[in-house]
Amino acid sequence: MEKVVSGIRPTGNLHLGNYFGAVTSFVKMQEDYDCMFFIADWHSLTTQPKPGDLRRSVKTILAEYLACGIDPEKATIYIQSDVKETLELYLYLNMNAYLGELGRVTTFKEKARKQPNNVNAGLFTYPTLMAADILQHKALKVPVGKDQQQNMEMARKCARRFNNIYGVEFFPEPQDFTYSAKALKIPGLDGSGKMGKSEGNCVYLCDDDKTITNKVKKALTVSGAEVPNSPKPECIENLFTLLEICSAPEVYKFYDERWNDCTIRFGDLKKQLAEDMCNVIRPIRERIMEFSSNDTLLEKIAREGAERARESAAKTLREVREIIGFTPVAR
Ligand code: TYM
Repeated sequence: MEKVVSGIRPTGNLHLGNYFGAVTSFVKMQEDYDCMFFIADWHSLTTQPKPGDLRRSVKTILAEYLACGIDPEKATIYIQSDVKETLELYLYLNMNAYLGELGRVTTFKEKARKQPNNVNAGLFTYPTLMAADILQHKALKVPVGKDQQQNMEMARKCARRFNNIYGVEFFPEPQDFTYSAKALKIPGLDGSGKMGKSEGNCVYLCDDDKTITNKVKKALTVSGAEVPNSPKPECIENLFTLLEICSAPEVYKFYDERWNDCTIRFGDLKKQLAEDMCNVIRPIRERIMEFSSNDTLLEKIAREGAERARESAAKTLREVREIIGFTPVAR
């Protein structure tokens, strides 16, 4: 069965961007592929979280994975830091990664701009750690949102370069994958850009109905369409994207027509959007509460997942060592 790998950083709760951009694909893919979904706790260290926050976030994401429908009977769920083999591969890949290409990664440049006092080496080599996550399982498909495309390009480069340097066909080139027609960028409610934790514009899967409704109510809009069939400004386009993913197609069509004939009332649109968003999130939120109080279950899932992930990574690393030229005599 084809291998699939993906992960999410534990920097708080999952939001609708994570859910529609990645997790809904995880849930579908576990039916047809050999899936490994992990919690990228090493990656979250680039922003130096406090130990208590990190511990809480890892547990939260684990409970949220389960609440979204990732099934440990069908997919392997593990915590990145439980699989030390990743670090060894990370080191090998870093030996073949160049400063120029790492420096050109947009997410690095953005992060460097946002945290100028903490432009650390981990941030710089973030894409090679991500490549190690993927290549250690020789994954072919990686379900991610649009914002991860450049990191995926780096993962393919790492695979190609390793194969070229050692003259082998060892690592397959992993492809980013989504079930939707194109890679998704779920927008935030602040009128521009993507939904993201550091942007502070998120609707979280643990938000209650009132919180969701208030967030949607406050979303930026314009005064209304003045010319029939005119293009939508970004903040309106964003609301329509959210309608498209949370509401029924006829609801989207109705408001699209109201925009085009200039009779749209954003109060009505927001009311409808909030209601539909609450309907998507409510059952997930209820399951999050159930799972997060079940420490025994969470520990069992993480332990069993770690074992399976380690076994898969260890097999790859044994072969990698041999390819690189480490002699088995030495151990
Ligand atoms: P992270 O934690 O930022 O996001 C997790 C996943 O959610 C997707 N996502 C979005 N998709 C669409 N619209 C949005 N607004 C939105 N916000 C987040 C992301 O594309 C991602 O798929 N580097 C990764 C974690 C990672 C990883 C990996 C992923 C580490 N190693 C190996 C795949 C394979 C990250 O920071 O994702």
